[in-house]
Amino acid sequence: GHDMHGMNVGMGGMMAGTDLLPVDALPGGAPLAPLALLKNQSGKDGLFKAQLTAKETPIELVKGKPTTFMTYNDQIPGPQIVVTEGDTVEIEFKNSLKEPTTIHWHGLPVPPEQDGNPHDPVLPGQTHTYRFTLPEGSAGTYWYHTHAHELAAAQAYSGLAGSFIVKAKNDPLAHLPEQHWLISDLRLDNEGQIPGNDMFDWMNGREGQYALLNGQRQPAITIQGTQRVRIWNACNARYLNLSIPNCEFIVVGTDGGLLEKPASAVSELLIVPGERYEVVIRAIQSGTFPLNSLPFNRQKMMVDFKPETLVLANVSINAVEPDLPGKLRAIADFGPATAQKKVTFGEKPMDHAVGMTPGHEMSDMPPSTMSDLFFINDKTFDMNRIDLRSKVGEVEEWILYNNSHMDHPFHIHGTQFLVTEHVINGKASQPAYRALKDTVNLRPYETVHVKTVQTDKGIRMFHCHILEHESLGMMGQVEVV
Ligand code: C2O
Ligand code: CU
Ligand code: CU
Repeated sequence: GHDMHGMNVGMGGMMAGTDLLPVDALPGGAPLAPLALLKNQSGKDGLFKAQLTAKETPIELVKGKPTTFMTYNDQIPGPQIVVTEGDTVEIEFKNSLKEPTTIHWHGLPVPPEQDGNPHDPVLPGQTHTYRFTLPEGSAGTYWYHTHAHELAAAQAYSGLAGSFIVKAKNDPLAHLPEQHWLISDLRLDNEGQIPGNDMFDWMNGREGQYALLNGQRQPAITIQGTQRVRIWNACNARYLNLSIPNCEFIVVGTDGGLLEKPASAVSELLIVPGERYEVVIRAIQSGTFPLNSLPFNRQKMMVDFKPETLVLANVSINAVEPDLPGKLRAIADFGPATAQKKVTFGEKPMDHAVGMTPGHEMSDMPPSTMSDLFFINDKTFDMNRIDLRSKVGEVEEWILYNNSHMDHPFHIHGTQFLVTEHVINGKASQPAYRALKDTVNLRPYETVHVKTVQTDKGIRMFHCHILEHESLGMMGQVEVV
């Protein structure tokens, strides 16, 4: 049933409404710089206190053409926050942008009113203090980003995202040196500026001509001995199918922290927008190899799929047998689910969009003509409507069904879930390992069963993490009572 996507024919040349900088205008090859840290200003044990300011900052990535980004503390990506489970976090946030914004703490179990929901904008010129305590067992690899109503997509591709690590008090991998790879997407026009979305971006999710690693193009990475590598897909829409010739990934952790034991080595690792992984990389042969993102045919609304391998970095690595403990930690099963939720992702068929002009750059707000293109349980987002209700502490099974021909990453706020089953084309399969996640991809017409439990009263968002779809309203609210 892909006939209705006949519109792909001949559209390729019209994809971009703006002339873009050639890819090599952005120099690559510099050694990978570690992510800058947000400094803790509290003198007290167990308290992390700091300021973040969102503002427009010119940064000269391309010589002579400084790009105006939206930044946290003038940095791309935003400064990394590192805390320990049990810590209280206090972030004094100032919005020095010309538009409302919020900070959402993606994946972290923070109270709903501290979670930067679109209901709680920080207006231009305003200051707001986010305050939360991270419980025991919350160690993991998280991130923070804007969740402004209808503006999250544009603010995120303009730079408003950063990484957040919660360390465990007892960490079985504490002996390993760490590397952090935050991968983000960037589009620059001929002037080195960040153009707005066009119709294709809103429909498919935006992908720029650059994928940056820690804000750098194709950095040179050195891995010595066994290292723990945390990887973020902070792209609005780009699916990263990571692969390094002559190397394998041993997954040791996911969104919500470590696995029970190191997983079997794989040569490809798909990381969809919003997801994180912790891996150890094993080289079968020493050398310098590209870190590739291999073509992954995520289904789009208007298909312009050219299988292309993207080189994200170059990795120098020695062939050594990874030094890893056999056991990492126990992940409890949540027990039997006593409630069930059904969430169906849907979209209007293509012909709806036919009247719109391709290649024409639009504003940062989703165009009203597209506001009913993507929905959940037949509805687009309405801040004043509660879509589902859950009870504090009740284990629920969520049945996520993707009744559309596009891939959509499902994400829910405030908690982690266990994926229990995938069903595609009538064939059921179980995940290879038990893992805590807050984001999971739904392939076209796939059903994914997850088990989850909410621990705080209040309103939580769930949505597609292709941020264009989120901003177009592919989002719902669950009220936890
Ligand atoms: Cu990372 Cu509601 O999002
Ligand atoms: Cu989130
Ligand atoms: Cu989507």
